[in-house]
Amino acid sequence: MSSDRAGDPVRRALKLGLAGVLSEYKDELGADGPAALRHDLDELLAAGAATAAAAASTAAARAAAEADSSGAPALPLVAPTAAELAAAAALAETADVDTLCAHFPKIVARSPKMLAVFRLILKVAPTDATVVIHGESGTGKEQIARSIHELSSRKHGPYVAENCAAFPESLLESELFGHSKGAFTGADRMRKGRFQMADRGTLFLDEVGDMSSALQKKLLRALQEGEIRPVGASAPIKINVRFLSASNKDLAELVKKGLFREDLFFRLSPIKIVLPPLRERGDDLLLLLDHLSIEAARKSGRPQPPTYAPETLALLRRYRWPGNVRELQNEVQRMVALADPGRPVEPRDLSSEVRAGAGA
Ligand SMILES: Nc1ncnc2c1ncn2[C@@H]1O[C@H](COP(=O)(O)OP(=O)(O)O)[C@@H](O)[C@H]1O
Ligand SMILES: [Mg+2]
Repeated sequence: MSSDRAGDPVRRALKLGLAGVLSEYKDELGADGPAALRHDLDELLAAGAATAAAAASTAAARAAAEADSSGAPALPLVAPTAAELAAAAALAETADVDTLCAHFPKIVARSPKMLAVFRLILKVAPTDATVVIHGESGTGKEQIARSIHELSSRKHGPYVAENCAAFPESLLESELFGHSKGAFTGADRMRKGRFQMADRGTLFLDEVGDMSSALQKKLLRALQEGEIRPVGASAPIKINVRFLSASNKDLAELVKKGLFREDLFFRLSPIKIVLPPLRERGDDLLLLLDHLSIEAARKSGRPQPPTYAPETLALLRRYRWPGNVRELQNEVQRMVALADPGRPVEPRDLSSEVRAGAGA
């Protein structure tokens, strides 16, 4: 999407604290530019002072780290103290439901299984531990990864996410590790990989079970040794990232089948978070339905979110949601687009998959 591409210079400019670049970019877009992007730019500019201060402290920390000639890996931006870790662990155990949920403002959940996930995250997020997130497709793995970053001491550093299933092997290697100039035909300049982009922040690799065995080996070395070697580069580069990964495949099962390296499996899994499927989250379904309905109505310019007939709700509850929250999100968007705004959503407004799956 063009606004995604357009987001890149914004992120770059933000990192550099260049309010001037942002306003220039906004001018360039002109009044006809994508409204959402213009709105984001306005917000970013308004937050300019805070951002510039954060960027300045990042830059100062980076300069200090680079000046460290010992070659030792730099420390996280602000390492948590033992007291802070103890406080996080205590909060994780004792927080009441409202306090707990307030730490995850973008994640709609109140079911016991999700609250247990929240407590685990509160405890492990501030540590630098490697975390693997398991869960079926659409259960919110990416969202959970981001909240771990936001609750960590690296929150002012970059958060970089990559989906390993989205690239063929040769491309994925240079996406992750970068390449030097002339490393292969078409590599007309040096390019930083995701590991370097995530320096002093968090790197999240999604669908890590889809990596080829050669890349698994390279990833293992990066995690073990804390350094990477860009494609075609002669010298390794030190990295300082907190590493998160996710898979909708059972990695232990892949190990048994010889498709995933056991040593990498253990490297990735000191902390394992398992996201329950939507069908095991009880009334979270209704909370999500409300939340997603409001969101879909707003996005499509409908003044009011839809209401649902009791029979429709019964079918939605009975359906198994193999695509989890993402599937519910799509179903809601469909209902908002197609159902008559003047009446509650009837079973006949549901998609044929949901009706058939719920036995209607
Ligand atoms: N508990 C939740 N509350 C609100 N939105 C959610 C929740 N879980 C998932 N979503 C939304 O559902 C979509 C799929 O989530 P995502 O994190 O991409 O899933 P996964 O990575 O497991 O496939 C995203 O748009 C995400 O924002
Ligand atoms: Mg995902």
